[in-house]
Amino acid sequence: MLLIYFLYARIPAMQFEVFTLLPEVFPSYLDTSILKKARERGLIQVNVHNIRDYTHDKHHTTDDTPYGGGGGMVMKPEPVFEAIETVLGIASPPSTPEPDSTPIILLTPQGRVFNQSIAKELSQHKRIVLLCGRYEGIDERIRENLVTDQISIGDYVLTGGEIPALILIDAVSRLLPNVLGDPTGAEDDSHAMGLLEYPHYTRPPEFRGNKVPDVLLSGDHKKIDKWRREQALLRTLHKRPEMLETAELTKEDKKFLAGLKQDENK
Ligand code: ADE
Repeated sequence: MLLIYFLYARIPAMQFEVFTLLPEVFPSYLDTSILKKARERGLIQVNVHNIRDYTHDKHHTTDDTPYGGGGGMVMKPEPVFEAIETVLGIASPPSTPEPDSTPIILLTPQGRVFNQSIAKELSQHKRIVLLCGRYEGIDERIRENLVTDQISIGDYVLTGGEIPALILIDAVSRLLPNVLGDPTGAEDDSHAMGLLEYPHYTRPPEFRGNKVPDVLLSGDHKKIDKWRREQALLRTLHKRPEMLETAELTKEDKKFLAGLKQDENK
């Protein structure tokens, strides 16, 4: 137990600095399951900062009406700049990211669309800033002069960046060493290999007349690995064929797929 403690203690926790107007959204999810354990074991640290704490007027104003008119409210630049600069201890952050500097990521539908390879890229950082937008938008000077990256979790519009921030924290954290109980967990993932994942089964061997495929009960691990790989290829071909264009395919994979095409053409 002591040894495990020292092993973990040597790896500094990855830090997520979240800036939001709704800090109350975060604790329940972060206090659950794998993220809770990762935090308790010092593998990740999530600091949630309330942007409203960095306002100086009587009403703690964080938004204002847009110049030029139109509906909705816009997030003001001053509290956002002050919050992030104070926490990071910087006077004026760079607008272009340096290779190992802390990325300042705005969660926005205008960002690059999040995927497993972005999660992997972000997992290489020691610290990440996540800025959650609210209202109709944020003052453009935040985007231009503070933020170094913009990420969207998909082509739809949410009421704010809080759920996207949690999604990013979840996807990045589970890629960090020792976060998942099973050390191969993240490597075997759907998408990690560029393919969708093969089907999983557990006991009972038959449920409502539906049987677990015989090969999985055979104990022949070579056969099982082959079956799983082929199932992953089949699923990807049927559900997300475009993923096959960038997936790392072996000679056997290509042969299997070519065989399928031949069968279809018969
Ligand atoms: N904020 C609102 N919608 C969003 C999205 N799709 N991704 C990231 N942040 C958002």
